[in-house]
Amino acid sequence: MTEIITIDGPSASGKTSVAQRVAQHLGIPYISSGLLYRAVALMCLLENVSAEEVETRLAKHRLELQPTPTQNLVFLDGREVSKALHSLEVDQIVSAVAVRPAIREYVNQVLRQIPPPFVVDGRDMGSAVFPQARYKFYLTASPEVRAQRRVPERGAAFDTVLTEIIRRDEADKRQSDPARDAIILDTSHLDLDGVVQRVLEHIHP
Ligand code: C5P
Repeated sequence: MTEIITIDGPSASGKTSVAQRVAQHLGIPYISSGLLYRAVALMCLLENVSAEEVETRLAKHRLELQPTPTQNLVFLDGREVSKALHSLEVDQIVSAVAVRPAIREYVNQVLRQIPPPFVVDGRDMGSAVFPQARYKFYLTASPEVRAQRRVPERGAAFDTVLTEIIRRDEADKRQSDPARDAIILDTSHLDLDGVVQRVLEHIHP
């Protein structure tokens, strides 16, 4: 397998878990592109600056993503920050960071340096970053189903998580259209194994 497989979808659609499992099955790395946007959002929090301001400071920082078979490690200026990337605080500002073209270009450059094969998840992996990918998937599910899945990870109330998901869907709309050649899978009534199986049915290494 020498290919790039893209798995896009809205927040909490299960794309990272699916990407992880598909990659494991194929024996190749997986990459979660959202982590890089989250790391830039973390820069804003650490330095107490706006998304606009952080854009001018990107060149001063070193951002690296290291795929391991079980997880992605993110290093900011040599310090491992992976565990700090999934807080509600980061959720709340990451879209304002991700909407800025110069930040998207910065993240895309980091991604395009990673040698294939890999499975990559995000919003625009199949449509914009890796349009040449041979296999493209787009996962969907209702906001309520996605919120239900995310509650245990965030340790917050269902309503708080649902409001945050709906807000982020709106804020991420611009970069979230499925690639025209992506296979669309509605995961609302499927468990993780079910989605992984559907994806693998389409892949012929
Ligand atoms: O995938 P995840 O929910 O971790 O992504 C966090 C945020 O990063 C998204 O809400 C979106 O603003 C941004 N993102 C993006 N394009 C990607 C991946 C993530 O704009 N390819």
